[in-house]
Amino acid sequence: MKNNFQARHVLITGASRGFGKELAYAFAEKGARVDIVGRDSKQLQRVSQCIRHLSKQPSHFFSADLSKTSVQNNLLAAVRHTSGQVDVLVNAAGLPGFGPIVSFQAADLKKVLAVNTLVPLELSRQLIQGWQGENRSGMIINIASLAGQLPLPYASIHAASKAAMIAFTTSLRYELRRWPIQLLTVSPSLLATGHFDQETRRYLKHQSLVDQLSAALLKQSQLDPAKAAKRVIKAAEMGKSELDLPYATTGLVQLYNLCSAPVRALIANRYQLKK
Ligand SMILES: NC(=O)c1ccc[n+]([C@@H]2O[C@H](COP(=O)([O-])OP(=O)(O)OC[C@H]3O[C@@H](n4cnc5c(N)ncnc54)[C@H](OP(=O)(O)O)[C@@H]3O)[C@@H](O)[C@H]2O)c1
Repeated sequence: MKNNFQARHVLITGASRGFGKELAYAFAEKGARVDIVGRDSKQLQRVSQCIRHLSKQPSHFFSADLSKTSVQNNLLAAVRHTSGQVDVLVNAAGLPGFGPIVSFQAADLKKVLAVNTLVPLELSRQLIQGWQGENRSGMIINIASLAGQLPLPYASIHAASKAAMIAFTTSLRYELRRWPIQLLTVSPSLLATGHFDQETRRYLKHQSLVDQLSAALLKQSQLDPAKAAKRVIKAAEMGKSELDLPYATTGLVQLYNLCSAPVRALIANRYQLKK
């Protein structure tokens, strides 16, 4: 095992619920000192209590709207002031960003891109600057999405926000090769958190029996976020740079890249595309 998280200071955004919350619990089980960020302070308080119980370490929560520039500028300083320098940043906060492009108001579009892309990039930039200045090691785990590698119809904003995150992390990995800074990109397909409920299925055809069966299969194949979180921790312990969840989606992406025209036609055919 390359990395040990016992007593390491882990900061997780979007940990009031969903995947971020499960990642917080999984890190806590490894004895990490986990701080969490989100907007819902009641929920954050509950999660923070559970973290303390699991880790036997202190845990603080920061109730903040990450789409606000002032929060993006001041969050890390507030965290450092309360509980010291961050060793591991997990960018899990996210908004879905699904639907026809014309259904988005400019403000909604900007909010999705801010929370999903700008915030992870900016927090990473600030942390790396601090780590390099203090000559210390660090790790950033970016929760991207399969859609960043394999965009689906009616997911343009979501896919764009996650593709940017993936490209950012890959480029940065080259740049930081000589520094003790590790970067892990996680690309989940579907997690059973409720995040994408309605958003994807709404646009599927559901006409033929095959469509109905595959829609049902899609629902069944949603990953248990607690199990997925444990896989992320294992990948981080092993010092991996990329993790697709489930593993089989790596093959899917390879197939898409190898013969993108027929695969794209197949994808388009599954959806009720509007003129
Ligand atoms: N679920 C999936 O199928 C799936 C698939 C691929 C990738 N992902 C990615 O995995 C990550 C977690 O997804 P999830 O399913 O756990 O989503 P979720 O259940 O909707 O949780 C999203 C989290 O982000 C936080 N958040 C949203 N907007 C925020 C803001 N403006 N400021 C601060 N926090 C904010 C929410 O906290 P508050 O409400 O308290 O602010 C919440 O803790 C996301 O980045 C998502 O894109 C999910």
